[in-house]
Amino acid sequence: MDHYILAIETSCDETAAAIIKNGTEIISNVVSSQIESHKRFGGVVPEIASRHHVEQMTIVLEEALKQAEMVPKELTAVAVTEGPGLVGALLIGINAAKAFAFVNGLPLIGTHHIAGHIYANNLVQPMEFPLLALVVSGGHTELVFMREHGSFEVIGETRDDAAGEAYDKVARVLNMPYPGGPHIDRLAHEATEAVKFPRVWLEEGSYDFSFSGLKSAVINYKHNMDQRGEAIIPEQVAKGFQDSVVEVLTAKTVRAAREFGVKQVIAAGGVSANKGLRSALETAFEQEGIPFFVPPLKLCTDNAAMIGAAAYQMYEAGVRGNLAMNGRPGMEL
Ligand code: KG4
Ligand code: ZN
Repeated sequence: MDHYILAIETSCDETAAAIIKNGTEIISNVVSSQIESHKRFGGVVPEIASRHHVEQMTIVLEEALKQAEMVPKELTAVAVTEGPGLVGALLIGINAAKAFAFVNGLPLIGTHHIAGHIYANNLVQPMEFPLLALVVSGGHTELVFMREHGSFEVIGETRDDAAGEAYDKVARVLNMPYPGGPHIDRLAHEATEAVKFPRVWLEEGSYDFSFSGLKSAVINYKHNMDQRGEAIIPEQVAKGFQDSVVEVLTAKTVRAAREFGVKQVIAAGGVSANKGLRSALETAFEQEGIPFFVPPLKLCTDNAAMIGAAAYQMYEAGVRGNLAMNGRPGMEL
C-alpha cells in the first residue's frame, strides 16, 4: 500500500508544506519565503518570522493538497519539524500539524530539521549505508555518520558560527544583502585571485569546525584596508573566504569518509547549494572512488519535502507523536 505523508516545515523563515509518496517521491512541494521581509534587518527577525508563518500556513497547506489533487482522507500521516529552530516559528507549524492530524484522525510525526536536510537526498536517489552526511546550513555545520536509517552519529560540529552564518556575516561586511551565501558564491566565481585567509583545522584528528576566526580575519582585513585608505576588491575577498571554508569542509569530509569506510557521501543544508563546495566535493570523491550526492538547489534550502522524506522512515519504524508535542528549539539529532 502506498503511503502519503503531508509534511510541514516552519523552523526558520520559510513556510512550507509538501506531500511525499513512500518517502521518496514528491507529489507536491510548496515553499513560501519571507526573505524579502527580513532583508532590511540583515537577518531573520524571530517575531516577523512567526507572524509570516501565521499568515502563510493555511494558504501553503491548502496549496500543497491542491497541487497534489488530494483530500485529507487519502493521507497516511502528518509530519512536522519539531526542532531545532526558532521556537515561535516552530510552534506555528506544530499547531497546524496537530490541528490537521486531530481533525482528520491521522497520526502525527515530529521530525528533526537536520534529519530532513539529510533525507532530501532520498528524494533523488536511494541512500546507502554506512553513509556520511555533511550538513551545512545557516544554523548548522555537522558531519553525521549513519549506519542505517534513523541512526545519526554526530562526529563533528562547529564550535562557534555555522558555515552559513559565517557566509551571511562576511556578506554583510561586503555590503551584500541577506542571505549572503549566494552573493559570496557568485562574487568568488568572478575572481581569479584571492586574498589569503587562514584555514582553521583545530586539533589533529578533530572533525569539528570553527569559522568565527575566519570571519574575524575578513573583518580585520577590511578594517586595515579602510585605515590605509585602500579599497578592497570584494570578489577577491569573497574568493579568499570561500576557498578557506571549502578547503576545510572538503578535507574533513574526505578524511571522515575514509575513516568510517562509508558507501556514500551526501551534502545537505543551504550551504550545500554553494557551487564552489559542490565542485570541490565532487572532485575529491571522484578521486576517492566514493559516490557523492547533493540534492538539487531547491531541496538544499529549507522545504517540507525533506521533512516528509525523513518522517516516512520514522513512520515505518513505528514512531508516533501526540498532541502534547511542543517546539524544541535545541532538539538534538
Ligand atoms: O538550510 P537553510 O535554507 O536554512 C537553515 O536551516 O539555516 O540555509 C540557509 C543558509 C544561509 O546562511 C545562506 O546564506 C546559505 O544557506 N546559502 C549559501 C548558498 N545558498 C544558501 N551559502 C553559500 N553559498 C550558497 N550558494
Ligand atoms: Zn535548514
